[in-house]
Amino acid sequence: MARIDLDLAHAYRANPERDEDYALLPLKMSFEDGGAYALLGPSGCGKTTLLNLVSGLVTPSQGSVSYDGRDVTRLSPQQRNIAQVFQFPVIYDTMTVAQNLAFPLRNRGVPADRIKQRVGHIAEMLDMSAQLDLRAAGLAADAKQKISLGRGLVREDVSAVLFDEPLTVIDPHLKWQLRRKLKQIHHELKLTLIYVTHDQVEALTFAQQVVVMTRGRAVQVGTASELFERPRHTFVGNFIGSPGMNFLSARGTGNGIQIGPHTLAAPSPALAAIDRFTLGVRPEYVQLAAAGSAGALPAVVTQAQDIGTYWLVTARIGTAADAPVLRARLGLDQDIPAVGDAVWLGVVGDHTCYYRNEELMA
Ligand SMILES: Nc1ncnc2c1ncn2[C@@H]1O[C@H](COP(=O)(O)OP(=O)(O)OP(=O)(O)O)[C@@H](O)[C@H]1O
Ligand SMILES: [Mg+2]
Repeated sequence: MARIDLDLAHAYRANPERDEDYALLPLKMSFEDGGAYALLGPSGCGKTTLLNLVSGLVTPSQGSVSYDGRDVTRLSPQQRNIAQVFQFPVIYDTMTVAQNLAFPLRNRGVPADRIKQRVGHIAEMLDMSAQLDLRAAGLAADAKQKISLGRGLVREDVSAVLFDEPLTVIDPHLKWQLRRKLKQIHHELKLTLIYVTHDQVEALTFAQQVVVMTRGRAVQVGTASELFERPRHTFVGNFIGSPGMNFLSARGTGNGIQIGPHTLAAPSPALAAIDRFTLGVRPEYVQLAAAGSAGALPAVVTQAQDIGTYWLVTARIGTAADAPVLRARLGLDQDIPAVGDAVWLGVVGDHTCYYRNEELMA
């Protein structure tokens, strides 16, 4: 296993000039030895590009990749000793499950008894022990994907195991099981794992550190709770959470902060001095408040949905056509307001974040 350091950028086209020409904008980050990471972001944000730069399938158009301090920028995935699992299973249909799992080991001359042991162990972890002698050709898509996962995990001597959306063709229940398995495998084998997904639940349950990406930029690397509590960029606030963070345009008035037609006491003098900024508050932290409470805004409820374990209440601040909307997650123990009700919603509190130019202010 290895610690992986990146200091690079990548453009697939020659002579990149504008930001849009880069699949990956200049990025400096490290994957710690033995860490479990997820690369999370919408389609086209650069997840596969980043993964392929780590493995060596793609060479960065500028900068370098190093493993344990050694420059590997020009080395192939084989030379870097990487196991990579792709979105669509790469397996040999004419071989049995056992032969498929053994392939990466046989290729490297591992002794037969050791191969048997490893294949048995991996098959057991993936609940495939009963299928070892079946030909891969006859198996369902999810079983093939499990073989593909197994082939990524069978070697013990790799620098890192990389997964590119490896569970896409698997049904939700099995997906959940496999994700738990992967987490367990990580725990047992202490592998450096990097896992690409566009599903936040998958990323947040699997990884210790999540790299959130948008349009070629890694905007934040953090734990689930860091991404939830202190999103460093409005994209993270919006992308993480269900639903995402509420954002309200605000301006400092010298002694207060103004949101729409309302002025609230400023949480800090520094904020009151900033002309324009954005207030961000997660629906979990928007509270029903008494009329006129400090840090609360008057609003009218436009929707109240019972989600089962909580209510999702949507309210509009003011009557203007473009009046801002706030969403609040309210517990079942509270008096849930009805559509049309006038309410006061607390938006300024310890969990509120403030942004300028999309970036969190310290
Ligand atoms: N081989 C390539 N040649 C040219 N452009 C590419 C190539 N591969 C990817 N791109 C472009 O680079 C950008 C990032 O693509 P990438 O495949 O890394 O995104 P992704 O986050 O993995 O997306 P998805 O979730 O759809 O797999 C996109 O604009 C894509 O069109
Ligand atoms: Mg991809």
